[in-house]
Amino acid sequence: MKTDSANKCVIVIFGATGDLAKRKLFPSIYNLYKKGKLSSNFAVVGAARREWSNDTFRRNVATSIQESKIDVDQDINEFLNHFHYLSFDVTNTESYTNLNDLITNLDEEFSIPENRIFYMAMAPQFFGTIASYLKANGVTNTTGWNRLIIEKPFGHNYESAQKLNDDLREAFTEDEIYRIDHYLGKEMVQNIEVIRFANAIFEPLWNNRYISNIQITSSESLGVEDRGGYYDHAGALRDMVQNHMLQMVALLAMEPPNRLTTEEIRTEKIKALRALRPMTPNEVDSYFVRGQYGRGIVNENTVNGYREEGNVDPKSKTETFVAGKLVIDNFRWAGVPFYIRTGKRMTEKSTKIVIQFKNLPMNLYYKSKEEMHPNLLIIHIQPDEGISIVLNGKKIGLSGETNPVKLDFCSSCQDVVNTPEAYEKLLNDCIIGDATNFTHWDEVALSWSFVDIISKVWENSTPTDFPNYESGSMGPKIADKLLADDGFHWWPITDESDYTI
Ligand code: BG6
Repeated sequence: MKTDSANKCVIVIFGATGDLAKRKLFPSIYNLYKKGKLSSNFAVVGAARREWSNDTFRRNVATSIQESKIDVDQDINEFLNHFHYLSFDVTNTESYTNLNDLITNLDEEFSIPENRIFYMAMAPQFFGTIASYLKANGVTNTTGWNRLIIEKPFGHNYESAQKLNDDLREAFTEDEIYRIDHYLGKEMVQNIEVIRFANAIFEPLWNNRYISNIQITSSESLGVEDRGGYYDHAGALRDMVQNHMLQMVALLAMEPPNRLTTEEIRTEKIKALRALRPMTPNEVDSYFVRGQYGRGIVNENTVNGYREEGNVDPKSKTETFVAGKLVIDNFRWAGVPFYIRTGKRMTEKSTKIVIQFKNLPMNLYYKSKEEMHPNLLIIHIQPDEGISIVLNGKKIGLSGETNPVKLDFCSSCQDVVNTPEAYEKLLNDCIIGDATNFTHWDEVALSWSFVDIISKVWENSTPTDFPNYESGSMGPKIADKLLADDGFHWWPITDESDYTI
């Protein structure tokens, strides 16, 4: 039951001097504050190693907000007064005692009923340690609620994820753990369910009788930037597929939930992930392909290959591109491939889902070599947000031929409201206790079990063709073969395209 005091809380950010806090968290908290989503009974404690004063911390918070293109009110000081800094050593008991004292004072100062959010925005090796110290030192022993927000990576494989989960569960219950997958905070990812379950023209067709295949592309034009150290041990499979891509698959494939509650929705997503057909190691190469970018031209600039990036092994065999075919073994999806692809240094930054419908049993308008264009539903996740439907219409004139026509709805083009940043929505959800758009442990476990099969095969073999795609391209040619073998091709992701065959 939510009460009036529900959104009164202290948010403790571990890693408050880091990039995530600066780029995403402070601006999101400010937006929530400005929109009145955060009561004035809140405080933020920034905890990190550096010896900063409250003033230094507040100046950094102010700068990060100013740099984030948000309209900043003239007087931001009242907001900044809610921010406090604590120099923190994660393995030192004294730090936790100081933290507890500080939070207790803030509870009093801002009339907060001992509700606490602990946000882990730092190196993952400390997640478990912090959780157990919080409990051991009584920081979670409150009369209000406690919630833990945890960033990815949630483990490196199933085994390490389970170990991390066990550590967290010593201090927090499953209901108190909010595992972030920021894709679940994106407007159009949240819209997948609405498009499916609020439209009579889609849901009856949403199955293997009418859909021939589904394609999910999440491409980036950036390389690994300054994250080479992390990325070279992760790769695209762990970085994007285990979480964001599989979450989108689950939302597209799940059955309608009985009700729109966290539990019902999660149950259906988990069922969909359970239906993913696991591969044998021998099958991996026929279902998944990997790539690594070489030099090339992106946005008219010549860029380095992956192996030349900072903190990357010059002989690295880490994949920066993955494409795969997923098979879902249930009544709804038997025989419908879900193709996914994601990579860095591709042609452009874009996330799109294309649902391709089956051809009609007979083409009355068949003309010489021309085929009827399949109907498509395109969900534009980013940067543009909206949906398009590709239908067939009559070609103007006397020929009697058909033409594909594209109907576009661009929700981000409407100037009613700016789409809130994913982090803003997720933080708000956590504050009000809604865990729907966070990943349950069962989802994490199933995703790792699926991905581990692929990573084990890839770790034990060395790709001889790396780098196998040029920066600025749509990835290696072998990714096209994956679809061509089934008689399909990737639909283009560029906005200008008219989706003709
Ligand atoms: C993160 C990955 O989870 O998602 C990054 O670690 C990737 O490597 C990012 O760039 C992509 O997110 P978005 O929202 O920009 O598509």
